[in-house]
Amino acid sequence: MQSQLPIWIDQITKTTDLSQLEALKASLLGKSGEVTQALKGLAQLASIEEKKAKGAEINAVRDSLAEAFQNQIQILEAKAIEQKLNAESLDVTLPSPSFTQVGAIGRIHPLTALKEEISDFFQKRGFTFAEGPEVDDEWHNFDALNIPAHHPARQNHDTFFIEGHPTHLLRTHTSTVQIRSLATQKPPLRLISVGRVYRSDDLDATHTPMFHQIEGLVLDKDINMGHLKGLIREFCSTLFGVADVPVRFRPSFFPFTEPSAEVDIACTKKDGKLVIGKGGDWLELLGCGMVHPNVLTNCGVDPLEYQGFAFGMGLERLCMIKNGIVDIRQLYDGDESWLKHFGSFGF
Ligand code: PHE
Repeated sequence: MQSQLPIWIDQITKTTDLSQLEALKASLLGKSGEVTQALKGLAQLASIEEKKAKGAEINAVRDSLAEAFQNQIQILEAKAIEQKLNAESLDVTLPSPSFTQVGAIGRIHPLTALKEEISDFFQKRGFTFAEGPEVDDEWHNFDALNIPAHHPARQNHDTFFIEGHPTHLLRTHTSTVQIRSLATQKPPLRLISVGRVYRSDDLDATHTPMFHQIEGLVLDKDINMGHLKGLIREFCSTLFGVADVPVRFRPSFFPFTEPSAEVDIACTKKDGKLVIGKGGDWLELLGCGMVHPNVLTNCGVDPLEYQGFAFGMGLERLCMIKNGIVDIRQLYDGDESWLKHFGSFGF
């Protein structure tokens, strides 16, 4: 038995996979394996000395074999892992599967779609895009817009101030862009601006601390409220796809426009659903007015020479009204089935 050991050890170390090793182990150490059988054969030996000597020899062989098997298992297992890793390595040169194949066709978020639709409406009427920073200062967000310090309107804005910079804030409305544009561009102007604004509102079904506004500004000689009304009427008809949609200009107040108005659109509820464009109820859509002479003076424009109008609206609010979305938070949840339902494929 002892003389056999080197041969067996050699066989063990030459095995190349785990199943081969298992088979060899069974043939040696298994129930009817050679070593097990040899141990059983001890009973046939005549003398007790012989049994002891032979038994010790076989046991030593069995222990050596068990150790050899254990070592080989470790070697083969490590080899198997290495082979698996090599086989699984990423082939970065493979072309990716097409979107339709993996069933992951992207949709355009309703907010993005609406932003494009509105931008398109104004671009077609000669408006150009203007931008401003989301972190702005009190001058652009308040003072220049005829909202001096301690004006009660400042309180209504629920402003987020920047820590350590008491005069800087997250803009509370896109009217800041009116001021920024007037500082760099000479009238006549037709501007539209879309961007994020921030207010420290509670988070509920109709409020989020961040939302989007669309701001418009028209400045020229002899601009009057009639121009504003005409444009807004056309805008509402186009947006809701209803010709001559009833709109109401309700007197309101903004420090930066005079006169100011809020625009309501006719609506009604039918079978629990909101129907826009007819009926006896009104839904508020946007704020607007003639640019206050103080705002023009603050920006170095002579109000006797130029007049204009401005309007501002919340993109989320319009999006919810247009699509029958009742909870603003859904716009930001990123829920896949919601996006599949409300998302679109094109503008
Ligand atoms: N800035 C106003 C708001 O945030 C909206 C507005 C813009 C009103 C322009 C009039 C003119 O509520």
